[in-house]
Amino acid sequence: MLIAALLIGIVYYLPALAANGSAPFVKNGTPIDFRKKLNDGRRILGDGKTFEGLLLAVTFGTTVGAIISRFLGNEWIFIAFFESLAAMIGDMIGAFIKRRLGMERGQRAPLLDQLDFFVFSTLALVLMHVKIQIVQILFIGILVIFLHLFTNYVAFRLKIKSVPW
Ligand code: CTP
Ligand code: MG
Repeated sequence: MLIAALLIGIVYYLPALAANGSAPFVKNGTPIDFRKKLNDGRRILGDGKTFEGLLLAVTFGTTVGAIISRFLGNEWIFIAFFESLAAMIGDMIGAFIKRRLGMERGQRAPLLDQLDFFVFSTLALVLMHVKIQIVQILFIGILVIFLHLFTNYVAFRLKIKSVPW
């Protein structure tokens, strides 16, 4: 039963994972902050948060939702849309925090980088009354951290990235 619960948990998070994973396919889009800086002299969000990335992520996340709605019910198209949107808002809040801490785009912020989207998509799922359990949240949260380390390592070996993190 635990395994079943964990697998269902993964399915609940597929829209957010798809959204977060698809955004990097956008290169050089229009920055959401329109290149504006705050009083600290730093960008509001930076060049890593674009309208194109946001649109692609929400579209892809909602499409995944349309697929899983065949099994979980039609409401999942709607849930997936807001889950994906929340994931990208979390990602932007993460970038906002990094810029305020003086960190450049792409600079490593352990846990914040991996969990910003996850925390906000979880919040969205809870607000939409998806019956998600603490054990599912913890399990997927840990899985997300390892998935992030693994995909970055693969990208390094494939020479897509210059460092293995
Ligand atoms: N991306 C985008 N629009 C978004 C989110 C992501 O275009 N709303 C793209 C950008 O090309 C970004 C890449 O996805 O560089 C990876 O996203 P992420 O790791 O969140 O950004 P970073 O480059 O690490 O920048 P930051 O330090 O701001 O997190
Ligand atoms: Mg990042």
